[in-house]
Amino acid sequence: MGAPIIFSGIQPTGRKHLGNYIGAIRQYVEGQERGAPAIFCIVDLHAISVACEPAELRERLYDTMAILLAAGLDPERCILFRQSDVHEHTELTWLLSAVTAHGDLNRMHQFKEKSAEQRQLVSAALFFYPVLQAADVLAHRATEVPVGEDQRQHIELIREIARRFNERFGETLVEPEHRIPAVGARIMDLQEPERKMSTTGAAEAGTVYVLDGPAAIHKKLGGAVTDSGREVVRAPDKPGVANLIEILAVARGVDPTEVEVEFAAAGYGDFKQAVAEAVVELLAPVRERYAELRPDEAALEATLAAGAEKARTIASRTLAEVRDRMGIGAPR
Ligand code: TYM
Repeated sequence: MGAPIIFSGIQPTGRKHLGNYIGAIRQYVEGQERGAPAIFCIVDLHAISVACEPAELRERLYDTMAILLAAGLDPERCILFRQSDVHEHTELTWLLSAVTAHGDLNRMHQFKEKSAEQRQLVSAALFFYPVLQAADVLAHRATEVPVGEDQRQHIELIREIARRFNERFGETLVEPEHRIPAVGARIMDLQEPERKMSTTGAAEAGTVYVLDGPAAIHKKLGGAVTDSGREVVRAPDKPGVANLIEILAVARGVDPTEVEVEFAAAGYGDFKQAVAEAVVELLAPVRERYAELRPDEAALEATLAAGAEKARTIASRTLAEVRDRMGIGAPR
């Protein structure tokens, strides 16, 4: 098999947290060494599926862009762009909706969860969200999609959409594989370890942000909910401790079993202290680099524009073929 075509997307909403970093962003950085190409997209059109302030959306987009660059994405080695800059994605969304089952969209866990959270409006965009995500991936003929565990069902649906398109219109689209890390695919909230770490609806104390400084990180990890007992082991009745073991393993780049062995005789206090130190070390370089990059919005825009141009070249080729296969527009 040749080099993978890697694609992933990240929302510009909220503040990026340790779950995003461990589950996704670090995989993007690794992916740019292997991908030919590796393509990463800040999905502002997905963000508007729930209520958001226009000015705030722009700010968060720059925040996200600066975090990705600070984490190590290099526009010389990957394609990094803003979804709304490449109109091909939205047109492809509509075309793909013709081969997407309404019933499949209705089954999406994320739609069910997010629609239950909305107080005022459950938008049709929230329902359509996975079709836009499919267009993102399929437009670039990606073979590999690095994501956290919560995106597994969306990637399955993308494969189903590609399959149905190809069956009906002939071999055109590529069925992508998800790439979900073995450790750290589902980082849990520090205060409620039964729910995943996320920016919506969670207490501040349960979420470590990528831009948190050492004091905040020590406070949040020191106050993390652990479980009864004293042992540092992964067990079904110890979701809090298991989560911290995974975080430490990823931060140190070791196997979780090594963490269990090292802390076999330690108490929770020492263990949490070690996790905090490792997370500080993991995130400090990102935070420092971010502080340098974030103020120069013109430079961020220039990088986004260059990325969009490259992404458009790829996506427009796929779109032209899809239109042609479907009998849309003048014959080619
Ligand atoms: P988003 O912006 O919610 O999340 C970005 C990435 O972070 C991962 N993630 C986590 N990983 C581990 N533990 C957690 N607690 C955690 N929370 C989030 C997510 O799995 C994701 O990989 N629908 C996507 C964005 C998207 C996309 C795409 C992804 C749009 N188009 C095409 C892949 C391909 C989303 O909302 O991600």
